[in-house]
Amino acid sequence: MANALEVTALDVVYQGTLQVLRGLSLAVPEGKIVALLGSNGAGKTTTLKAITGLLPLENGEISGGRVAFDGADTTGLAPHTLTRRGLFHVREGRQLFTDMTVEENLVAACNALGGRHAAPRDFDEVYAFFPRLKERARQICGYLSGGEQQMLAIGRALVARPRVILFDEPSLGLAPKIVAEIFAIIRQINQSTGVAMLVVEQNARVALANADYAYILESGSIMLEGNAAELAGNQDVKNFYLGGAEGGRKSFRDVKHYRQAKRWLN
Ligand SMILES: Nc1ncnc2c1ncn2[C@@H]1O[C@H](COP(=O)(O)OP(=O)(O)O)[C@@H](O)[C@H]1O
Ligand SMILES: [Mg+2]
Repeated sequence: MANALEVTALDVVYQGTLQVLRGLSLAVPEGKIVALLGSNGAGKTTTLKAITGLLPLENGEISGGRVAFDGADTTGLAPHTLTRRGLFHVREGRQLFTDMTVEENLVAACNALGGRHAAPRDFDEVYAFFPRLKERARQICGYLSGGEQQMLAIGRALVARPRVILFDEPSLGLAPKIVAEIFAIIRQINQSTGVAMLVVEQNARVALANADYAYILESGSIMLEGNAAELAGNQDVKNFYLGGAEGGRKSFRDVKHYRQAKRWLN
């Protein structure tokens, strides 16, 4: 099957010296959900920023490797160019206009797309996936719950009719019940529109339950990859990522144990 997104041997450096990604390779096949898992500081957000051209804004650069979207080399292209081509990044912290209404946020997303969707359009598709956003269409975004704001962030992506959506920790700061609801909708969007997805998560449990394939990132390199169901059943993954009640957050003791065990590095 063709890959919608392909990252090959990517190196990323901040401030000219601080290397954060080292030879990272991953692929997102057409129509699939791929999870990129890893603890805080592993380089997950950096990977997404490298793919969507955001690194220059942070004094970061791709110092090696390449990114290909839809079969074409897109390494280093500007964010707006990539968005218009159909690569949409739902960023960490959601990046919404908190003093505008829900619907105004969706209109702004249309406008940002420029020529491709310049005419005003309805948001029936967004509201079909997120009925709660329809109820809150005229409410100020800043007053929405965290879960509703995440829904709106995903809704903005839908407006762009993307071919690939990148999610940066959609579960962050949300109660487990809301996380389950968000992931169920993410899956539903994938299945009914066929959009491919790369989901970055610290919450390995929920990500593995919903993805087709997964990669585990440690200190800027992929340590392990495989079918999501297989990884969820892998003893080392269970011990390290799925052990605690927190589902993904690790304690220092786990780290020590992991370093001693080192089994799943092979
Ligand atoms: N703009 C930046 N400048 C310098 N270092 C950064 C910058 N952004 C992230 N880093 C560093 O890169 C590493 C990976 O960060 P990040 O990609 O945000 O990890 P994750 O999303 O997995 O938590 C961390 O050590 C972080 O401190
Ligand atoms: Mg991050």
